[in-house]
Amino acid sequence: MLTYSKTLRRGVSFQLAALTTLLIASGLGCSGNSSDAPGGGGGSKGGSTGTSGAVNAPGGTSAGGALGGLTTTGGASTSAGASNSNGGAGTSGATSGGSPGASGSATTAGAGGSAGGVAGGAGGAGGAGGTGSTLNGPPMGWASWNSFASKIDLKLIKAQADAMVSSGLKAAGYQYVNIDEGWWQGARDASGNITVDTTTQWPGGMQAAADYIHSLGLKAGIYTDAGKAGCGFYYPTAGTPAEPNSGAEGHYDADFLQFEKWGFDFVKVDWCGGSAEGISAKTAYQGISDSIKKATTATGHTMVFSVCNWGGSNPWDWAPAMSTMWRTSGDIIYYGNTADITHVLSNFDTAQHPTAQSPGHYNDPDMLIVGMPNFTLAQNRTHFAMWAISGAPLLAGNKLDSMSADVKGVLTNSEVIAIDQDPLAKQGAKVSDTGGLQVYNKVLSGTGRRAVLLLNRSTSTAMLTVKFADLGLGASASVRDIWAASDLGMKMTSYAASVPSNDSLLLLVTDPAAAQ
Ligand code: GLA
Repeated sequence: MLTYSKTLRRGVSFQLAALTTLLIASGLGCSGNSSDAPGGGGGSKGGSTGTSGAVNAPGGTSAGGALGGLTTTGGASTSAGASNSNGGAGTSGATSGGSPGASGSATTAGAGGSAGGVAGGAGGAGGAGGTGSTLNGPPMGWASWNSFASKIDLKLIKAQADAMVSSGLKAAGYQYVNIDEGWWQGARDASGNITVDTTTQWPGGMQAAADYIHSLGLKAGIYTDAGKAGCGFYYPTAGTPAEPNSGAEGHYDADFLQFEKWGFDFVKVDWCGGSAEGISAKTAYQGISDSIKKATTATGHTMVFSVCNWGGSNPWDWAPAMSTMWRTSGDIIYYGNTADITHVLSNFDTAQHPTAQSPGHYNDPDMLIVGMPNFTLAQNRTHFAMWAISGAPLLAGNKLDSMSADVKGVLTNSEVIAIDQDPLAKQGAKVSDTGGLQVYNKVLSGTGRRAVLLLNRSTSTAMLTVKFADLGLGASASVRDIWAASDLGMKMTSYAASVPSNDSLLLLVTDPAAAQ
């Protein structure tokens, strides 16, 4: 059974890769589900855990702030908003937009300020969010898996958390430090409580890890499996292979209560055990959602719930009612492989479920591989732009303590982050595709504001054209090149640009006279 499961999962990934290559070559997107346990019964509508919103200050606060950089009609003051997102601009929020939150952190105040500086009223909302939290859209943070697999310990997590602060990622809105597979080998004491190695791996236990992350003003994430055994048992990587009982099944109430008592604010629940057992994903994840709610009632502490069954059983149909985010595909990178844009493109394609997405509930194309070895600046930008236009969670997966200035520049670009975090939480939709020359449109909050991605999936440099009518805009609009931070002026009917093969252009297109 175990061998069968392992073969199945790897087989699915290989088939998907081959299929994706084929579809990309033909200029088509790849959609469909990986094989997985079929959806079953159960799944009554649980109240949303909605913890992203619950944990953060209400009111779309800093998201509005970062939007300041984008709210231009003539292009005059856009860069002011963009460059003010690191704090220090709170006063412009106070004067132009409204009163900044008295207890806001530097980050919150700065973001509020940038909104005020450019967007007026939105600045007031930014200021009002001053409770020490940052952005309020799809979760932003870092997760240990893509760069470190299961070889993790307190020292490593502390170093990455420190780097999240010193690199400026925290100031840009990243909050979660997520401990993925490898923190636990499956040992329980006689009462069934999780026990970890407190001698070398986790001195002070898991609470010490959460406490340290919190001491930096960040939030802490942890990981488990919906089945009896976790991925570390079926697919051991670096570090010690997990024991057969390294999943949460049979212990949902106790384990999720334990995570909250330790102080964790986010939990990702994987599916290796569930898949191997052939149980219903919808039923299992509903049980987990119920346990998290019980834990929250008991502790008063909330936890973002991240469903990770790789898009099997169509989670976009049921996971929005029980979670903040749900994976829509297999892994963006497998342990031991190098970063590969093919996986980025196929995960982007399979995440397209726009009707499932709403504020607090997001399709998850997987953690980012921006800044991982082998990726160029153009690939990093295209990858980040695709996640932003999707309104996807932004969980960095690179080594934060050794990233280049270029990578940092991509991950902290406040205008791109503002597109991702837009309060409407819309997923950008493809509006045209001519032989792999694709145009995606994301409707942003405000009037007549669109984020547009021109993505060239053909094999040569080509002219790509966005027609304003396809965006629901009028005959003329102003165009801004986001990565270049350059206003291109008013254009009539459409905008065309040359884009290299496998590259993209991210634009803000604004028509203040538009209906929406
Ligand atoms: C699965 C998940 C990954 C990661 C690994 C850990 O493959 O999809 O994101 O958590 O398990 O084993």
